[in-house]
Amino acid sequence: MDDVKALEAELLAAVAAARDLAALDEARVAALGKRGRLTELMKTLGGLDPEARKARGAALNQVKDTVAAALAEAKARLDEAALDARLATERLDVSLAAAPEAEGRIHPVTQVTEECIEIFTAMGFALAEGPDIEDDSHNFTALNFPPGHPAREMHDTFFLPPRADGEKLLLRTHTSPVQIRTMRGRTPPIRVIAPGRTYRCDSDQTHTPMFHQIEALVIDRHVHMGHLKATIEHFAAAFFELPTVQIRFRPSFFPFTEPSAEVDIGCARSKDAIRIGQGSDWLEIMGCGMVHPNVIRNCGLDPDQWQGFAFGLGIDRIAMLKYGIPDLRAFFDSDLRWLRHYGFAALDLPTLGGGLSR
Ligand code: PHE
Repeated sequence: MDDVKALEAELLAAVAAARDLAALDEARVAALGKRGRLTELMKTLGGLDPEARKARGAALNQVKDTVAAALAEAKARLDEAALDARLATERLDVSLAAAPEAEGRIHPVTQVTEECIEIFTAMGFALAEGPDIEDDSHNFTALNFPPGHPAREMHDTFFLPPRADGEKLLLRTHTSPVQIRTMRGRTPPIRVIAPGRTYRCDSDQTHTPMFHQIEALVIDRHVHMGHLKATIEHFAAAFFELPTVQIRFRPSFFPFTEPSAEVDIGCARSKDAIRIGQGSDWLEIMGCGMVHPNVIRNCGLDPDQWQGFAFGLGIDRIAMLKYGIPDLRAFFDSDLRWLRHYGFAALDLPTLGGGLSR
């Protein structure tokens, strides 16, 4: 019977040596499987005489029970170890800060609006606003467009259906009505900018029916064209983050300014991009001028005491110029691939100190 004892010790050692569930299963098959060591020994019992068979059979059954119990115990131990290992690797530290969401991007129009606000507020301008839906008076008449005057046709205006009293409201064609609201609502001196949406029935590679402007208005006692020019030049260099940029003033006409000018910025235009600081092409970026005395009078101020300048800047235009975006219409396509390419990181707010576009 010594061989049975030795086999038991050997089989138990194999069970104890199994380091994982696969090794344990090998030990089980080697002991108790169809061709296992114990199974093979059991098969030899038939050739013994009855007395010996009984004693050896009982001894082998004893070994089988002991090995089976050891296997069950080892399996429970290894199962538990496997679970512990899995829990350790899948551990989640809920006290860690959430990683910022990388998917969302700031639209170039928003970015550029923030950049302009940063530059103008540093120059001492305050923010003003007005409604997108305006009346004829604020959008035209108070701005010195007489009723029936052909200058009204310069803007392809979207009109709303007439109200009961016959008045037709409209989508503002420019941010200049904010000039009227500001002069009537604040006491001079005034220095404001008014960013916002504007609307004209127009659509091609550089025009969309809805676009964005920033209006600037300065009203004080001794304001002249030199202040206007210096303000625009300072703005342009700061905005394009260049020491100087090429700017030209072209004489122009607006009913609400006299004299009036349009401002172009030097650029290079190629098939798929526009770049400033190089090239010999020009792109119009704003209209400007000295506020017309009639407009100052329409707002209840005395034009002999108060003068001012104003300009209206196309936000989308300067965004295209600064960031080399070829087609204005893509701004409003809501194409996520475009936004991932041209958009800005959500937490990178433009500041003069930290860099506008970095
Ligand atoms: N409102 C004019 C436009 O949209 C621009 C402008 C603003 C011109 C202020 C002069 C002064 O074209």
